[in-house]
Amino acid sequence: MASSSSSSSLFMALLTWASLIAILSHVGSSSAQLSTNFYSKSCPGLFTAIKPVVQSAINKEARMGASLLRLFFHDCFVNGCDGSVLLDDSSTFIGEKKAAPNLKSLRGFNVVDEIKSAVEKVCPGIVSCADVLAVTARDSVAILGGPEWNVKLGRRDATTASQAAANSSLPPPTSSLRSLISSFHSNGLSTKDLVALYGAHTIGQARCTNFRAHIYNDSNIDSSFARERRAKCPSTIGDGDDNLAPFDPQAPTTFDNAYFKGLVKRKGLLHSDQEFYNGGSTDFLVRTYSTNPSSFSSDFVSAMIKMGDIKPLTGSSGQIRKNCRKVN
Ligand code: HEM
Ligand SMILES: *[C@@H]1O[C@H](CO)[C@@H](O)[C@H](O)[C@H]1NC(C)=O
Ligand SMILES: *[C@@H]1O[C@H](CO)[C@@H](O)[C@H](O)[C@H]1NC(C)=O
Repeated sequence: MASSSSSSSLFMALLTWASLIAILSHVGSSSAQLSTNFYSKSCPGLFTAIKPVVQSAINKEARMGASLLRLFFHDCFVNGCDGSVLLDDSSTFIGEKKAAPNLKSLRGFNVVDEIKSAVEKVCPGIVSCADVLAVTARDSVAILGGPEWNVKLGRRDATTASQAAANSSLPPPTSSLRSLISSFHSNGLSTKDLVALYGAHTIGQARCTNFRAHIYNDSNIDSSFARERRAKCPSTIGDGDDNLAPFDPQAPTTFDNAYFKGLVKRKGLLHSDQEFYNGGSTDFLVRTYSTNPSSFSSDFVSAMIKMGDIKPLTGSSGQIRKNCRKVN
């Protein structure tokens, strides 16, 4: 009798302790459901399954690292990091792939399929496509020479996608600083997060249609840089729209702080890039990142983690898609 009552009070004490820990771990975090060890028991081979596939895709084409990083951004900004960007059109919805910011632009879907297959081989039905994108973005940055970080995991996949949301939630490259700040603020990201995340434009390329107006009509641009870019981007709309130029011509496949050095020289490729160094409130951040690569790295990492926290599906919401292109 005595022993049963003492074991039940021990049980109660443990229960209280456990709930205290649970409560504490939720304080100060908008998505305490995500954790870096989410799959440590259910899929310990996750990271070793993903990285070699990312590495071999980048070996085949170095730009792919940039394309994969961008996929994560375009996923998170449209109804949260829920893998919706990866869904093909279905009989019940039009997906996000043909939305204005993505059409003829977003790429890397076949590589994501390969990565997901590799993950399914080691842990079938366990890891979401949304989490695959988060890890893939991290590995892409690390492989191209950028910082590495522990990715928070535990997202689940959307069962629908929205072309309308993709059209309206991703800011266009003609955006002003003020509208970029407000778009990022509405996703819980600060102005500093915004500028640091934009440092992702140290890798990858853009199409003429997205920078034409900037190189022909903006005044806040280095004139010899504008001339160079005009040579491969005709002024007439429709002419050479898909011609590519690198954001960071010095090292387009190295994740470094050269993008910010370019902005200080007024060699930003998009109108929106140069907005961060145009006599406004973010000039000091651009200058800091241009001379201090480690402050860029650490702010980029914390902003990536915050971006990855945007409205994840957790618990029993959504599903773990088998094939990232379609609902189970
Ligand atoms: C809201 C602000 C942003 C705007 C307006 C913007 C705009 C663009 C545009 C217009 C392109 C070129 C697309 C094309 O011409 O086909 C591009 C490419 C790219 N963006 Fe952004 N971007 C933004 C934020 C970000 C963020 C936050 C990231 C990642 C953290 C990112 C990563 C990239 C990368 C890596 C590329 C190159 C992709 C490739 O070469 O395939 N961008 N962006
Ligand atoms: C999204 O934008 C594209 C291109 O401008 C347009 O064709 C499409 O109708 C838009 N979709 C929605 C649902 O607003
Ligand atoms: C530059 O601005 C003028 C006047 O607003 C406009 O007619 C022209 O189409 C613009 N050119 C480009 C390449 O955007």
